[in-house]
Amino acid sequence: TTTTDYQAENATISQGVVEANHTGFTGTGFVNYDNVTGSYVQWTVTAAAAGSAGFTIRYANGTTTNRPMDIAVNGTVVAAGLAFGSTGTWDTWADQAFTANLNAGSNTIRATATTVNGGPNVDRLRS
Ligand code: GCU
Ligand code: CA
Ligand code: CA
Repeated sequence: TTTTDYQAENATISQGVVEANHTGFTGTGFVNYDNVTGSYVQWTVTAAAAGSAGFTIRYANGTTTNRPMDIAVNGTVVAAGLAFGSTGTWDTWADQAFTANLNAGSNTIRATATTVNGGPNVDRLRS
């Protein structure tokens, strides 16, 4: 199997900003979700063949409150309210896993904040 990283800072961002003011990210930064419901990052993932695939989202949450997000693949929510719990500090990163069924070819994977706190800071999607 091959590992592929999709940096959040290179993805499509709605209601969020690319920043680099906390340590430990990969690539050139991370996305600071606006602290509103509905803020999202959307990646495009190309699959050689249709089927189930495992992913992780690398994130930081320096608060003590969960920042859940809905994970949608090609517009369908596949993981509702996926937990992005506290990582202790904004410089401490963790991976949250999910599984998705992909089409052959191009797919969208969108992570949308479901609470008024917005999402966590998101570094990347990894497949
Ligand atoms: C702090 C932190 C940000 C984070 C924000 C939040 O301002 O520096 O990186 O996104 O808290 O609560 O979402
Ligand atoms: Ca934020
Ligand atoms: Ca990054």
